[in-house]
Amino acid sequence: MCGIVGYTGPKEAYPIVITGLKRLEYRGYDSTGVALLNDGLKVYKKKGRVADLEEAIIGKDLHAHTGIGHTRWATHGEPSDTNAHPHTSASGKLAMIHNGIIENYAQLKKELTKKGYVFTSETDTEVLLNFIEDIKENNQCDLEEAVRVALKRVTGAYVILLLDAEHPDTIIAARKGSPLVIGVGKGEHFLGSDASPMLEYTKEVVYVNDYELAIVRPNELILKNLGNEKITPFVTKLDMELAEIEKGGYDHFMLKEIFEQPSTIHDCLRGRLDATAGTITMSGIESNMEHFKNANRIIMVACGTSWHAALLAEYIIEELCRIPVEVEYASEFRYRNPIINKGDIIVAISQSGETADTLVAIERAKEHGAIIFGIVNVVGSSIARISNGGAYTHAGPEIGVASTKAFTGQLAVLTMMALKIAKEKGTISEERYSNLLFELEAVPEKVSAILKNAEALKTIALKYQGASDALFLGRGYNFPIALEGALKLKEISYIHAEGYPAAEMKHGPIALVDDKLPVVFIATKDSYHEKIVSNIQEIKARKGKVIAIITEGDDIIPGMADDVFFVPVADEIIAPMLSTIPMQLLSYYTGIAKGVDVDKPRNLAKSVTVE
Ligand code: M6R
Repeated sequence: MCGIVGYTGPKEAYPIVITGLKRLEYRGYDSTGVALLNDGLKVYKKKGRVADLEEAIIGKDLHAHTGIGHTRWATHGEPSDTNAHPHTSASGKLAMIHNGIIENYAQLKKELTKKGYVFTSETDTEVLLNFIEDIKENNQCDLEEAVRVALKRVTGAYVILLLDAEHPDTIIAARKGSPLVIGVGKGEHFLGSDASPMLEYTKEVVYVNDYELAIVRPNELILKNLGNEKITPFVTKLDMELAEIEKGGYDHFMLKEIFEQPSTIHDCLRGRLDATAGTITMSGIESNMEHFKNANRIIMVACGTSWHAALLAEYIIEELCRIPVEVEYASEFRYRNPIINKGDIIVAISQSGETADTLVAIERAKEHGAIIFGIVNVVGSSIARISNGGAYTHAGPEIGVASTKAFTGQLAVLTMMALKIAKEKGTISEERYSNLLFELEAVPEKVSAILKNAEALKTIALKYQGASDALFLGRGYNFPIALEGALKLKEISYIHAEGYPAAEMKHGPIALVDDKLPVVFIATKDSYHEKIVSNIQEIKARKGKVIAIITEGDDIIPGMADDVFFVPVADEIIAPMLSTIPMQLLSYYTGIAKGVDVDKPRNLAKSVTVE
């Protein structure tokens, strides 16, 4: 939530900052702002997207070699010009941008108000900035020292970037709980919520850790902890190209990411799965194999789409490995007093690796002595770094707010993980193990085959785009896919949608069924097939409109459904990786038909770094 960018060096700062903000817009798009340092501070900000600000400031003085920029996902105060970042301090000498939430801002505001401070915005950011300035003035110290003192009193999460009009080439940055990457160039430095703003300039980056403060100048990067001790910056080489974060000819990132899945799933399996040799190589699992083999229980924590991947993993791991699995919403888990016993393993799943609730859930579990295994897409992200072991999904940067390729990457990793543990534990027969390895290997090709029929889903989407509600039903391994299908449709088309286990539908949701309600059945050929056929009949008897995702060769369901979409034959454990693709396309085409900005749907942000 919120994207931050910074630059200091010999180049013009504004073009770098504004381009960086466009790349980070997935993190929030309620308002945009930049602060530039050259003969004093120049701050330009506006409600709306980066393009709105760009247009509004044509012709203004944008010359500067040091600058910061912000794209906002509103927390304190509605989206408005006034609440937009950067904020300036009472003296007008400091400017600050912030990603996160200052939880004790009300107390700090009270103290500052008593001293005569007046606030122009409703934000917690303006409060923190003036708190810093107040310390700077009262303690007669420099900005760095004032930031350090202030942050010791602050509770909550933050990444902040500050400019001081008196130090035109310096950016002060600090982080706790929100991501911050510093790019190291030749005589220049870049700052960002992720590495995308700096990709064309440098591949050398430093991931700043919690409770660290950075003093960034063109030729100097000083990293310190809040105790004022210097820390040697650990420079990492980025393995990411600019092309990966561009649309590459597609109309939207979401469509590009859906169509990338044959190759992203292939990349995820590559170097790990060798069906012919009968091996799965995953060093993160291997080094924790004793823990997994002897685990009394696996607890999965995640949010949103990643939670759906966890739910499917529960079905697969319990079936193949005979280890009890519990699936928890990270936001609930962190505030409960969960029972975590010796021998329990926490598996945290996250595309971004920065989701605040998942991060804190991990911290809580660590306090109980649990082993943490992270399944993450963004390399070097916070969850990846605080886990004891893990596996990357290797789906590449996912920019569209709706998670698509990261989800199938998570399913591929979780399935390999289950198979590897089951083999080691001896809970799977040689024959089933070998079959599933070949089945997994064939997934990219089968996904390609589905994508060739994408137009058929466009036709279905156009037919039902006017619906106000939709129901998604599945059984067994396809139940999590029903939940995921409903989530995708909601976020991308704003149609109210519910996902349910198909049999549970009789216990309430069936009351919604009338001749206008589209009911999407994920009804591929599996051990529940006959049962779900009965559920389809129950909907048809009430005149509901049935859209069925079925397996090639199914000659029963086409005779009863209003619309069908075929997916290739696959084992029931593997089939969800295929049946989720039509869910993604159906939502995409419905969203487009309704004129929704599918990459940036209203109220959402890609990475939820506030609780
Ligand atoms: O980055 P994470 O996987 O931790 O994110 C979790 C959710 O915020 C995310 O999956 C969200 O639900 C997506 N918008 C779903 O498409």
